[in-house]
Amino acid sequence: MSKILVTGGAGFIGSNFIRYWLSRHPGDEMINLDKLTYAGNLENLKDAEGKPGYRFVLGDITNVDIVRDLVRQCDLIVHFAAESHVDRSIIDAGEFIKTNVVGTQLLLQAAKDFDKRMHHVSTDEVYGALSLETKKRFNEASPFNPTSPYAASKAASDHLVMAYHHTHGLSVTISNCSNNFGPYQFPEKFIPLAITNLLEGKKVPVYGDGLYVRDWLYVDDHCRAIDLILEKGQTGQTYCIGGMTKSVNNLAVIKKILKLLGQGEEMIEFVKDRPGHDRRYAVDWSRAKKELGYRPEHDFDEYLKQTVEWYQKNEPWWQNVKSGEYREYYQTQYGK
Ligand code: NAD
Ligand code: TYD
Repeated sequence: MSKILVTGGAGFIGSNFIRYWLSRHPGDEMINLDKLTYAGNLENLKDAEGKPGYRFVLGDITNVDIVRDLVRQCDLIVHFAAESHVDRSIIDAGEFIKTNVVGTQLLLQAAKDFDKRMHHVSTDEVYGALSLETKKRFNEASPFNPTSPYAASKAASDHLVMAYHHTHGLSVTISNCSNNFGPYQFPEKFIPLAITNLLEGKKVPVYGDGLYVRDWLYVDDHCRAIDLILEKGQTGQTYCIGGMTKSVNNLAVIKKILKLLGQGEEMIEFVKDRPGHDRRYAVDWSRAKKELGYRPEHDFDEYLKQTVEWYQKNEPWWQNVKSGEYREYYQTQYGK
C-alpha cells in the first residue's frame, strides 16, 4: 500500500489519473494538492470525494511549508501541477515560471530532504517542433529545443528533475507525453474548445492554415503509462508517451468533430496564427513499449467520438467552466 501525493489533481489529466488510480489500486491513499487556479475544478472529482483513500488539500506548490508537510507524509509524488496552456504563456509567462519551475524545484528539494520518489509529468513540447517534410518523431534522445514560454518552463523543470537525480541520487522518473484529449479537459484547449463552441452554435477558431499536426493521446492511455512507469520504470529515466494517431492535422480533427455533430465546414473560422506556432509533434514510444510493455490502446476516431459524447452529456460541467461559476463556488467553500 502506498501513500501518493498528487499535485494538480483537480486539473484535466490529474483528475483522470486520480479516478484511474483509485479504481485500480483501491488500497492506496492519495492526497491531491491543488491551488484551484482557473484550470482546477473539484467538480472533476465528485466521484472521488468521500472515498476513504482520497483527500484534497487546497494549496500552492510554491508554498514551501505546505509542500514539505505533505511530501513528508507520502511515499511518492506524482507531479502534474502546472500552468499548461501555450497561448496564456505567450500573453504572460510569469506564473509559468513560478509554478512550473520554482514549484517543481520546491517539490524536488522536499523529496530529497525526506528521501521520497518523484514522478514528473512533462510534455513532448520540450523537444521543439518537427517539420511536415520528415517522418521523424521525438524520442528520449532528442535534444531539448523549446519554442514557447510554456515549453521552456517545462524544459527547465525537466532539467531540474534530472539534476536532482544526478547530483543527489534522488529517485525520479519523467514522462514526456503528447497532446492529451478526453473528458474534463478545460475548454481552452483545441478539442474541447471546438466541441463546446459547436454545441453552443459558435464557430471554431483555427489558427493559421490549420495544417499543424499533434500526436493525440487519449488521457486513459497516459494514466496507464504513468502507472507502468511507477511499477517498472527505471530511476533517472525519461519515457516518451504518444498516442495512436499516425498524422492528423487540426483541420482534419475539426472535420471529424463536425461530422460527429452533423455540422458543416462553414463552422470553421480561420484566424490569425499563434506566434511561434510549432508545426508538428510526434512521439516515438518504443522505449516505453520495450521496457514497460506500454502501447496506446484507445483508437483516436473511436475515443474522439466518445469525448464528443461526453461533452454532449455533461453540458452543465462545461457551461460552469466557461462561465467561471465553479470557481466562485469553490472559492466560497475553501475561503479563497
Ligand atoms: P490543467 O491546466 O488542466 O491542470 C493543471 C492543474 O494544476 C490545475 O488543477 C491547477 O489548479 C493546478 N495548479 C496550477 N498551478 C498550481 C500551483 N502553483 N500549485 C498547485 N496546483 C496548481 O493541466 P493538464 O492538461 O491536466 O496537464 C497536467 C500536466 O501534464 C502538466 O504538467 C502539463 O504540463 C502536462 N502535459 C499536459 C498535456 C496536455 O495535453 N494537457 C500534454 C503533455 C503534458
Ligand atoms: P492546444 O490544445 O492549445 O495544445 P498545444 O498548443 O499544446 O499543442 O492546441 C492544439 C493545436 O490546435 C495547436 O496546433 C494550436 C491549435 N489551436 C487552434 O487552431 N485554435 C485554437 O483555438 C486553439 C486553442 C488551438
